[in-house]
Amino acid sequence: MYRFMPDYDMFARPIYEYPAQTQQAAAIMLMIQNNLDPAVAQHPQELITYGGNGAVFQNWAQYLLTMQYLAEMTEEQTLHMYSGHPMGLFPSSKDAPRVVVTNGIMIPNYSKPDDWEKYNALGVTQYGQMTAGSYMYIGPQGIVHGTTITVMNAFRKKLGTEVNPNGKVFLTAGLGGMSGAQPKAGNIAGCITVCAEVNPKAAHKRHDQGWVDELIEDLEILVNRVRKAQENHEIVSIAFLGNVVDVWEKFDKENISIELGSDQTSLHNPWAGGYYPVDLGFEEANAMMANDPEQFKTKVQESLRRHAAAVNRHVAKGTYFFDYGNAFLLEASRAGAEVMAENGIDFRYPSYIQDILGPMCFDYGFGPFRWVCTSGKPEDLEKTDQIALEVMKEIKSNSPTEIQQQMQDNIKWIEEAGKNKLVVGSQARILYADAEGRIKIAKAFNDAVQSGKLSAPVVLGRDHHDVSGTDSPFRETSNIYDGSKFTADMAIHNVIGDSFRGATWVSIHNGGGVGWGEVINGGFGMLLDGTAEAERKLQSMLFYDVHNGISRRAWARNDEALFAIKREMERTPGLKVTIPEMVDESLLKF
Ligand SMILES: NC(=O)c1ccc[n+]([C@@H]2O[C@H](COP(=O)([O-])OP(=O)(O)OC[C@H]3O[C@@H](n4cnc5c(N)ncnc54)[C@H](O)[C@@H]3O)[C@@H](O)[C@H]2O)c1
Repeated sequence: MYRFMPDYDMFARPIYEYPAQTQQAAAIMLMIQNNLDPAVAQHPQELITYGGNGAVFQNWAQYLLTMQYLAEMTEEQTLHMYSGHPMGLFPSSKDAPRVVVTNGIMIPNYSKPDDWEKYNALGVTQYGQMTAGSYMYIGPQGIVHGTTITVMNAFRKKLGTEVNPNGKVFLTAGLGGMSGAQPKAGNIAGCITVCAEVNPKAAHKRHDQGWVDELIEDLEILVNRVRKAQENHEIVSIAFLGNVVDVWEKFDKENISIELGSDQTSLHNPWAGGYYPVDLGFEEANAMMANDPEQFKTKVQESLRRHAAAVNRHVAKGTYFFDYGNAFLLEASRAGAEVMAENGIDFRYPSYIQDILGPMCFDYGFGPFRWVCTSGKPEDLEKTDQIALEVMKEIKSNSPTEIQQQMQDNIKWIEEAGKNKLVVGSQARILYADAEGRIKIAKAFNDAVQSGKLSAPVVLGRDHHDVSGTDSPFRETSNIYDGSKFTADMAIHNVIGDSFRGATWVSIHNGGGVGWGEVINGGFGMLLDGTAEAERKLQSMLFYDVHNGISRRAWARNDEALFAIKREMERTPGLKVTIPEMVDESLLKF
């Protein structure tokens, strides 16, 4: 199918340049081309946007057919996408989504990793990751914002809100696709970031791009440099070219204190290059992986046991360690490492969702809202940043104390977003916001398109890694403790609910982040074209898109979600959510 690869340059054009019957379809064409832009995508010729195998389409024939359908569709038709395959245009209505996307949806008993290999090879399914298969990927800035929020709040958990993280150490690993955001986030949070990376290409790339300040190849030099940075209370990010296990062990021996520890090696894929075992060189490990996979597996497991043991020793000295959604604790436990809690069921360390993003963000409705200026003009993006900032400041002045910190962090982010120069590909921005913020910002954008302040429509969307879109027991829904974290009703309700409330396109996927069969996740796209119709749709859809998840989190008895949904019911007459009655624990004691 490579013969169908277009010979024109692949990038997001201004919306008016697309040969479409409706701007909604043109917006989707723009987003598809952005996802396949070589500056944005990881393996563009393979139609892979990010995450190793996150596909937009299975082949180039599907791309061409889809673009053709989008070019001819009217606002009375919907295009149905089956894992990259355009099934066709079906008559619908103006209020229906223009595109409905499914990726990797399987009969549950056929959703194991090997099934993916087989059915992908047969050409009947694909791994859409989260935003690759839904045309909503906007490059690395999405990750930087989420990682910054995580690192800042992890330091607050460890040090309290009054102590500044300058000169305090955050030790982690990985300078790849998403993990490469860690040093930048550490710099914004204001700490010393030490990030180990075994692959010289990845380490040099991030250093050359300016995403990490210094690159060190020798452990002794690293120790001296970190000591100096601690003494001088520096804000600096250091890439260590080598294995992270060596760093954990060396810092233990040298008594270098680590305030914050995590890991972002790709342990969701442990046997095929996601995790490099200690004591094997990079090339040696690659050769063993190919020639002796069983031996390689043994080495990975040995390494994970050593890795966890060194983490445990640091934690005993005061490190706050959290799992970064990369299946570190899961694979370490499978390897027999000492990472289980006393009850033998839970892990002894929290995931970043359990301790940080879940209770501090998702349960209140804060999540990775994003937008793309379809004119392609940086000045439009600047104007939207300013509009969003004004809206956030206005909301903050009336916000309850429970969410003041989040509002402040997000205001700071949007104030500095332009300066951080994170745009790759389309003129896009991410901003964590709650339902009120998302709706008010979207309405202000729609007004600005209507009045001509913005020169072209705006596409709204979000990462699937959010309040409501994703059921993932080891990540997004890991802070759900009522037993429902292994269900996926929330993600399915979300995609259905969004689709009849005005989304321009919707998607639902199996897999994404933690792997095939481990998660169901969905998202949407919405075109704000300045019309009254768009305003009606944004009000209705964004409200449901956030409150669906808050309700489920409240029903699971999460305090922050209970607070948020009760507050919302007081101000929204049509909202009536089932609230749990709390058990009086004293009645259970006899
Ligand atoms: N950043 C986020 O917000 C976020 C959120 C959730 C989950 N994750 C997870 O984080 C993981 C990393 O994602 P990615 O896109 O960066 O993957 P990636 O494969 O591009 O990068 C991982 C890097 O880790 C390096 N590495 C592997 N073993 C190592 C070792 N022992 N020591 C030092 N370096 C080692 C690899 O060489 C690779 O460059 C994934 O499992 C992903 O699902 C990230």
